[in-house]
Amino acid sequence: MRQVTYKGLTFVPYLENDKIQARIKELAAKITEDCKGTRPLFLCVLNGAFPFAADLFRAVQLEDAEISFIRLKSYEGTSSTGVVKEVLGLSEDIAGRTVIVIEDIVDTGKTIANLVGDLKKQNPSDVKIATLLFKPESLQTDVKPDYVGFEIPSDFIIGFGLDLDGLARNLPDIWVLSPEHDQ
Ligand code: IMP
Ligand code: MG
Repeated sequence: MRQVTYKGLTFVPYLENDKIQARIKELAAKITEDCKGTRPLFLCVLNGAFPFAADLFRAVQLEDAEISFIRLKSYEGTSSTGVVKEVLGLSEDIAGRTVIVIEDIVDTGKTIANLVGDLKKQNPSDVKIATLLFKPESLQTDVKPDYVGFEIPSDFIIGFGLDLDGLARNLPDIWVLSPEHDQ
């Protein structure tokens, strides 16, 4: 079995890059269809969403699409701290625009709920959420992502932007914490 090790933790293959890319193209086609005639602002949530945002944004076929970046952090090690803080803010005027927030993963949903609440204060015409991964069983808020790449169980994963304390974001595939760590 292929495996990678970070900080003494072993991870096994979960989602291959080919499968991720194919799914991103499907999401991009749906967004292209839904956002025709609007001037959408894609908002990539750093750090984790950068590979997903790059691939999704390039696959969207909307002439007026723009992208911007915001940086948030709510995680330490392999579990949520529950504390959501905004590290780097938004400079664009989003009033009257459709904002499509791009996240790597929605886990408890606290990060995204907080961000959507903040964005709505600035009177956008619509806020949509695109997330590569969604852990419905971990959800603790009433946010509902509009575009979901993959619904997954509440296991800890790394790769394709997702990290373990800053590491493993550059892995092209997504890997899951080996079941051997469950005992
Ligand atoms: P939430 O606020 O609990 O929804 O957490 C969202 C953030 O937690 C994501 O943007 C990720 O940075 C991080 N996160 C959640 N689950 C995982 C995981 O399985 N691996 C790595 N990071 C994760
Ligand atoms: Mg993140």
